[in-house]
Amino acid sequence: MVANPGGGSSDAGGGPVRHIPVLLAEVLAALEPAAGKVILDGTFGAGGYTSAILSAGADVIALDRDPTAIAAGGAMVAAWGGRLALVHSQFSQLAEHAPVSGLDGVVLDIGVSSMQIDEAERGFSFQKNGPLDMRMSAAGVSAADVVNRAKVADLIRIFHFLGEESQSPRIAHAIEKRRLEKPFETTRDLAGLIELVTPRKMKDKIHPATRVFQALRIFVNDELGELAQALFAAERVLKPGGRLVVVTFHSLEDRIVKKFFSDRAGKASGSRHLPIAHERAATFETVGKSMVSASEAEADANPRARSAKLRAGRRTDAPAEAADLSIFGLPSLASLGKLGA
Ligand SMILES: C[S@@+](CC[C@H](N)C(=O)[O-])C[C@H]1O[C@@H](n2cnc3c(N)ncnc32)[C@H](O)[C@@H]1O
Repeated sequence: MVANPGGGSSDAGGGPVRHIPVLLAEVLAALEPAAGKVILDGTFGAGGYTSAILSAGADVIALDRDPTAIAAGGAMVAAWGGRLALVHSQFSQLAEHAPVSGLDGVVLDIGVSSMQIDEAERGFSFQKNGPLDMRMSAAGVSAADVVNRAKVADLIRIFHFLGEESQSPRIAHAIEKRRLEKPFETTRDLAGLIELVTPRKMKDKIHPATRVFQALRIFVNDELGELAQALFAAERVLKPGGRLVVVTFHSLEDRIVKKFFSDRAGKASGSRHLPIAHERAATFETVGKSMVSASEAEADANPRARSAKLRAGRRTDAPAEAADLSIFGLPSLASLGKLGA
C-alpha cells in the first residue's frame, strides 16, 4: 500500500470527510488498481475513489463536471505530485482525456455528491430552501427554466419517464396554472405546490415532490445520455483486460448499465421467428457477480448506499461496437432542449 499524501480517504481538500464513498472495497476489487496502471475516475466528487486508487499504486485521470469539486481537489493534485490529473469535464467526453495507449480502468459513481445535496444554493434538495437550479456544471438550462418554460406535454413526459411519477399530468397542469401568476424560483416553492396537489398518504415513504425533483435533476444534467455516451466511450478506450466499473443509485441508470453489458456480451439476440445469423464477438465479459449491492452494515452506516448497484466488465480484444443509443430504449426527450419556446 502506497502512503496517501492527500491525507484522509475521501476528502479532496484535506478537511473533514464530506462524501462517504459507496461500495469502495467492491469497486477496488473489480477495478484491480496497481502500479503501472492508468485509471480514469469519471466522477471525482470528493476524491474518495481516486484517493484509494492512487493509494493502491495506479495513476489517475479524474474528471468532474462540477467546478466546485475541481477547485476542492486542487490540494490533492498537488499532494500526489504528477500521479493525479484532475480535469473539469463531463464523463461522456472521457475518450478525449485518455492516453493514446488506452486505459486500464474506468470507474463511474453516478449521481450527485453529498456536498451538492447539502448546499442549498445548488437547488438539488427541497429539504432546504434554495434557488431551483440543479445544474451540476453550473451552466446551461436550470430546473427553474424547465419548470417555468417547458410545454405542459413536455413536463408530463419528463416527470413520467425520468421520475416514474404517476401523477405527472396533475402536477404539470398545476405548474402551468401557477407559473402564469408567478414564476417558480425556489425549491420549496415547487415542493410546496406538489405537496398541495398530491397530498401525502399515510403509507407514502417519500415526500410527494421526490420523483419530480429526481426527474428535473436527471433532465437538467442529461444524466441518462451522459451515462450511455460514457459507456460507449469507455468501450473505445479501454485496453484488452481493462475494467469498466459503474455504481448507480436508481433503476433508470442501472437499466442502462445492465443493457449495455448484456448487449456487449455478444450473445445472439434473435428470436425463434427472427433468428440472427451470427453471434457478435463480446467486447466485455462480466467481472464477478453480475450485480453487487451494499452489505447491511454499509447500508446501516451510510443510507445512500442502500440503493447502490455495482456492475463491472472486463474488456476483451474485440473491436468496439457502434455507439447505437437504440440498445437502451431511452425515451426521446430531445425536443425539450427548446423548452417549448
Ligand atoms: C456520487 S459523486 C462521486 C463521489 C466520488 N466517487 C467520491 O468517492 O468522492 C458524483 C460526482 O460526479 C459528478 N458528475 C455527475 N455527472 C457527471 C458527468 N456527466 N460528468 C462528470 N462528472 C459528473 C458530480 O458532479 C459529482 O461530483
